[in-house]
Amino acid sequence: MRENFGSKIGAVLAAAGSAVGLGNIWRFPIETGRGGGAAFVLIYLGCVLLLGLPVMLSEFMIGRHTRANTARAYQKLAPGSRWKWVGRLGVATGFMILSYYSVVAGWTLHYAFLSATCGFKGKGTEDYPALFSSFSSSTWLPLMWMALFILVTHRVVSRGVKGGIERWSKLLMPALFVMVAVLVGCAVSLPGAGEGLTFLLKPDFSRVDSLTVLSAMGQAFFSLSLGMGCLCTYASYFTRHTNLMGTALKVISIDTLIALMAGFIIFPAAASAHYSLSSGDIGPSLIFITLPGVFQQAFGGAPLLSWVFSTLFYLLLMVAALTSAISMHEVVTSYLSEEFSLTRRRAALLETVSCLLLGVVCSLSFGLLSDLKLAGMTVFDLFDFVASNIAMPLGGVLISLFAGWRLSRKAIMDEMTNGGTLRAPWVRTLIFLLRWIVPLIILIMVAHQLYSGL
Ligand code: TRP
Repeated sequence: MRENFGSKIGAVLAAAGSAVGLGNIWRFPIETGRGGGAAFVLIYLGCVLLLGLPVMLSEFMIGRHTRANTARAYQKLAPGSRWKWVGRLGVATGFMILSYYSVVAGWTLHYAFLSATCGFKGKGTEDYPALFSSFSSSTWLPLMWMALFILVTHRVVSRGVKGGIERWSKLLMPALFVMVAVLVGCAVSLPGAGEGLTFLLKPDFSRVDSLTVLSAMGQAFFSLSLGMGCLCTYASYFTRHTNLMGTALKVISIDTLIALMAGFIIFPAAASAHYSLSSGDIGPSLIFITLPGVFQQAFGGAPLLSWVFSTLFYLLLMVAALTSAISMHEVVTSYLSEEFSLTRRRAALLETVSCLLLGVVCSLSFGLLSDLKLAGMTVFDLFDFVASNIAMPLGGVLISLFAGWRLSRKAIMDEMTNGGTLRAPWVRTLIFLLRWIVPLIILIMVAHQLYSGL
């Protein structure tokens, strides 16, 4: 017997747990900084509604209709066709993302530990770049944290859907929300925070160009966990009574709210510490190099507050990363266990061990293996590039084409109305978006990105 999520709120929180992750708290503020603040946020919201919502609904429909792992789902709906490769692509992507995601998650664990044990004490702004590069390029310490992170993920996933994933999501998501809210409160009350608020609230369209739109779309996909069958797998555990549209809207709102709140932590805090908001200060190294300094400067007169703030922040990041990692792990675990008739524990173990091995290579690509380059990229960068710039958008296109053209109208109506018990007057608009608009926009985005990268 296949498991189900035991409650509606459990299903929503598990899907929201997948969506809310490093993408919201780490990647969103970086992209917002680059894109010029409020203007980027508005474009991002447009992408979420126009592209994110239809693709999320497709994944939900495909998953719940077939109640199978993402590869088998396509096989069931289109037997004998090549569509099953969309599912397999998703499994491969999930495997790849989890390997490098765990490396970054391991870093957040290390920083939470450093912060909690007063490891930032006596350090100044100029010390953080060296601290980070010597840590991330060392051999054993990052490996140890990464392994710990993967093992925790493994434990939750191998306990199953209801007792593992749902139980932990129900506990961790509210905790995360409280932590984020406390941090927003601290950040906006810092002296000089106003500049950061203006940056986030007053749109400046002069800095927007086509690349801004592209990165907003990419961010929407990554942040909502779309394009690789993650939400499709979770939807296969939804019950017949789950309202798909309602669930999608709730997940999207929670994800967007947390991303915005992360913005309301980072920009006011950075403004208060006199960092420049739209320049290199808010770059990929933001959370590990800029932020520790921000915490210290912002609470210069109150070391205890600075300790609480920074420790909470890294813990929160770790919690967010954990619920997302669980969802990626589950895609692969359910595939392995159902396709190769393995027990859940065995399948989870297989995924964990392979991820550990790949994770070692990703982690070492910052140090020992930094010279190992393929197409000019280290293994870590290559994984990130292939997964988020090629495999996920491609998956998104294929998923929406599949739902738009291959799923029967009856199946779509059935899923959207729960067998006729709900009203869904927007189904025609949805099908139109899935058939034409979503695939076209994403293809243009990928082509443009590859073209401008050459
Ligand atoms: N959405 C998560 C985040 O914001 C990451 C994530 C989880 C993800 N599952 C995914 C990204 C599947 C792409 C595909 O961090």
